[in-house]
Amino acid sequence: MTSSIARQLKTRFSEALVKAFGESLANTDPLLVPATNPRFGDYQCNISLSLAKELKQKPRDVAETILANLDITDLCNTPEIAGPGFINLTLKPGYLEQRLNSLIADPRLGVEKAERAQRVIVDFSSPNIAKEMHVGHLRSTIIGDCIARLLEFRGHDVLRLNHVGDWGTQFGMLITYLKEAYPDALTTADALDLGDLVTFYKKAKIRFDEDETFKENARKAVVKLQSGDPESNKAWQLLCDQSRREFKKIYDRLTIHPDLTERGESFYNPYLESVVEELDKQGLLKEDNGASCVFLDGFTNKDGDPLPLIVKKSDGGYNYATTDLAAIRYRVNEDKAERIIYVTDAGQANHFAQVFQVATKAGFLPDNVEVVHVPFGLVLGEDGKKLKTRSGDTVKLQELLDEAIEHSRADLEKRLQDENRAENEEFIEKVSEVVGLSAVKYADLAQNRNSNYIFSFEKMLNLQGNTAPYMLYAYARVRSIGREGGIDFEGLRENARIHLEHETELALAKHILQLTEVIQAVEEDLLPNRLCDYLYELGKKYNRFYENCPVLKSEEPIKTSRLVLCDLTARTLKLGLSLLGISVLERM
Ligand code: ARG
Repeated sequence: MTSSIARQLKTRFSEALVKAFGESLANTDPLLVPATNPRFGDYQCNISLSLAKELKQKPRDVAETILANLDITDLCNTPEIAGPGFINLTLKPGYLEQRLNSLIADPRLGVEKAERAQRVIVDFSSPNIAKEMHVGHLRSTIIGDCIARLLEFRGHDVLRLNHVGDWGTQFGMLITYLKEAYPDALTTADALDLGDLVTFYKKAKIRFDEDETFKENARKAVVKLQSGDPESNKAWQLLCDQSRREFKKIYDRLTIHPDLTERGESFYNPYLESVVEELDKQGLLKEDNGASCVFLDGFTNKDGDPLPLIVKKSDGGYNYATTDLAAIRYRVNEDKAERIIYVTDAGQANHFAQVFQVATKAGFLPDNVEVVHVPFGLVLGEDGKKLKTRSGDTVKLQELLDEAIEHSRADLEKRLQDENRAENEEFIEKVSEVVGLSAVKYADLAQNRNSNYIFSFEKMLNLQGNTAPYMLYAYARVRSIGREGGIDFEGLRENARIHLEHETELALAKHILQLTEVIQAVEEDLLPNRLCDYLYELGKKYNRFYENCPVLKSEEPIKTSRLVLCDLTARTLKLGLSLLGISVLERM
């Protein structure tokens, strides 16, 4: 595969730098960026300004020297020097045509594979057993699934891990309550339907709080569970199975990639003791009020004293942090991870910074392994406060998704009426479901994940704007041209040639060719909203093209060329959306 446009330009500039200023600049980044305004062309090279200081020359002179040594006539019009010494580049239509022609037969649409495939772990979703899977977990699930898909598409070896909270002292309470409320549960062989586990949890908590004997039994149950008692283990297993079934329903509805491996906190239980021993061996462990801790650099309390990370509580138990330390060690040593990505709410930023610091100090994290926390903000209701139901309860995810589908169905039925269309129930059901669920996902991904966002069915289902319905509709519209004109796109691809004339055609073409750069940017900064912005812009550029350039009514060879441009647009939309975990509709 030929390299991306940006890389091709970069190579030419690197060669020019060496020719102009000598070998010492062989590895200098030419600081090539997409132009901020199409008036200035397509790309801008900013190297003259920084080189000027080094060379003690005027930036414009440096730019002149670079241009005198730059061989780029096959790719760009004559470059222009602007302002203090930027070099502006405009790609030649002939070059764009050639690039687009090479995309026609390429199922990857020019998206390059990573130069070196990495072993990547994406730790996401990770709800807690017997507790509510809340909107925070929904965000983690949607964002994590997208990141994993995108990295996999880049050729990385991705391991998706669901670090479910399936361990901890709450299980003592839950097991004790299980035995009390369902005395037969442990002796019957059948799977037990405990119903709504959240209600189960609440009832268990009430018993725990009101009854001292219950509390004492709960405490004993934890010890028994942790020491491997088979009966406690069975009870624990029952609870986990029940939760698992509930989680799976959500994953299925959201079409989360099926390769999500559940490896909960309990998995690391056998390794916790040795983690603490290792910290001790390294001389990192200190006693603080009976707890074993590692004191942290850069984290202080309000008196300015260093804060501890507790790894063994005063009662001898281990905690969330110990488990994450064991998980890092396991993922590095056994899974051979080179990049570990954690997708959780921003509230856990300190936890991860602390765990990463201790893991580094303890030597669990060699230099060649990158750990990244991918934080995200809160989901807010339309009142700007944390999302709640009208009665003030936490929102149940299943109900939230049902509601999205209901809204989307109402919108669809109205649209069908307006357009005077009759469709069967199967169509209506399918379209409402895909649009409703995609809208929830897209609304989440389209936001810069670092900020909070307001959950609004009305906004996310709007046909205008950066929404799933807009994107899906754009795709279906392009496809409808094919149906209208009786076009066999597969056949068309065989020996079609692109010709670009109209400015809207050129703009669309350039945008299509940028997909690979956008995907590489997301791979680095893990911000899926960049891909959404790109797709939204693609939809808009396509509309401008379509308003200005007749397709089916033009003469050959323009007609075929424009049809292929439509086809490339549709394929780009489909591929981009698939990386967001959204599937398209041929008709809607
Ligand atoms: N179960 C945790 C929660 O609900 C998220 C776990 C994230 N992953 C991790 N390795 N700590 O907040």
